Amino acid sequence: FQAKVLYGKRVLITAGPTYEAIDPVRGITNLSSGKMGYAIARAAREAGAEVTLVSGPTALATPHGVRRIDVQSAQQMLQAVQAVLNDAPAQHVFVAVAAVADWRVENASAHKIKKDGSAMPELKFAPNPDILAQVAATTSLSGWPYCVGFAAESENLIEYGAAKREKKGIPLLVGNIGPQTFGQDENAIVLFDESGHTVLPRASKLELARQLVSEIAKRLERRSLL
Ligand code: C5P
Repeated sequence: FQAKVLYGKRVLITAGPTYEAIDPVRGITNLSSGKMGYAIARAAREAGAEVTLVSGPTALATPHGVRRIDVQSAQQMLQAVQAVLNDAPAQHVFVAVAAVADWRVENASAHKIKKDGSAMPELKFAPNPDILAQVAATTSLSGWPYCVGFAAESENLIEYGAAKREKKGIPLLVGNIGPQTFGQDENAIVLFDESGHTVLPRASKLELARQLVSEIAKRLERRSLL
């Protein structure tokens, strides 16, 4: 049983990796499975929210009752997120869980690159937009949507987590407690907000997602009372 703590709230989530094309059949991606983002989408839906999931390529089934928009690259993910945020009615919560590629291939080829003797293709990289930071920057006046980010630091998580929350300009940052959570069914997380940090001990990603959803709901309630 899950209380409907997000009843009627609209929640937008990014999940999975992004895929940055080199040519029409080759690309660069990362090992994100999408499991945590999909678990949060499911938990938010169970809690009564209207959920939109903008997803990079994953092998996961869409959680029941969730609207899913599939994308490949970081730029497509940004466009899909902006389109949802520009739609009425407004989103109450944005949870950025996707492992967005930091760089895209600037000189991607429109045609399959031919093996050409000993000549190696030379890839040039360009930085991808920071989707979370861009959305967070638009919330400074209204405070909405309530933005939640993730961090996958391998060391000094407590110190870096607090700093990353400030740098991204978001009210809530979730730190993955390693060693390595990509593809795993379990995780442990730390929540950083304006009053410090709270550890949610090791559990299944779905259990943690449910706890995170109720932590988000508590903070939304406090906000609308202020
Ligand atoms: O800066 P870093 O990649 O460590 O930040 C991770 C957080 O920012 C995650 O919530 C991730 O979804 C989000 N992010 C993003 N767009 C990027 C890079 C990260 O939305 N280009």
